[in-house]
Amino acid sequence: MDERTETLKKWISESDNIVFFGGAGVSTESGIPDFRSVDGLYNQKWKYPPETILSASFFRRDPEEYYRFHREKLVIDGVKPNRAHLALARLEQEGKLRAVLTQNIDGLHQAAGSKNVLELHGSILRAYCAKCRKPYPAELMNHGKGVPRCGCGGVIRPDIVLYEEPLDQDVLTSAINYIRNAEILIVGGTSLNVYPAAGLINYYRGNKLVLINLSETPYDSYADLVIHEKIGEVFSRI
Ligand code: OAD
Repeated sequence: MDERTETLKKWISESDNIVFFGGAGVSTESGIPDFRSVDGLYNQKWKYPPETILSASFFRRDPEEYYRFHREKLVIDGVKPNRAHLALARLEQEGKLRAVLTQNIDGLHQAAGSKNVLELHGSILRAYCAKCRKPYPAELMNHGKGVPRCGCGGVIRPDIVLYEEPLDQDVLTSAINYIRNAEILIVGGTSLNVYPAAGLINYYRGNKLVLINLSETPYDSYADLVIHEKIGEVFSRI
């Protein structure tokens, strides 16, 4: 095993206060494309850029087109948790990992068995009416046709944070607390480009900040350990 993975393994074995903060790169090994890699979502041809389609004003203006994108690009059937999700769930069961903070909306951490998952950007596995806020099963939204509507006439929407919308304040506060009090913060599979989520790292006060990401991130120089490899592979060696 290489020296960096050895170090990570040692740190993990000695701690019962690890927090994980991740993004789309955690799910690529499950077959879900990330946003910003060369073959990621943002580099595919679409009538509008994904940041536009995934914005609150676009959703209100053109829910039809939003749902075309949603069902074709965000909903991927048959995906399963990969080695990274499973390893994190195991660390939680062993009493070592306190929380998973994720920017992902795919529910794969919970599918792997993680219990304490803070979904900073919500989940496509939940839906509610944009007008009366009545909750709906996600099935109709993810696999139905056209724009799903509530009995009140409102449009049913995914319980995700669209661009132009604020993050849930309770989730954000709780995420900050976990990071502030963490002994080890492992950040993985995120380009750390989207705020306020990316700025969460600044709350970490310890000396074991680990970054596991295929490409470089703006935070590489602040980290105590940087591993530029696939996160599932790294965790399979831990
Ligand atoms: P990005 O697509 O911006 O970044 C994913 C990062 O993961 C990239 O830097 C890749 O190099 C890396 N990566 C890909 N596969 C990997 C693997 N197997 N192991 C390790 N690293 C890997 O995704 P996020 O940072 O999650 O927001 O993007 C943040 C937000 O931007 C998303 O939550 C979404 C998007 O717009 C909203 O929809 C609000």
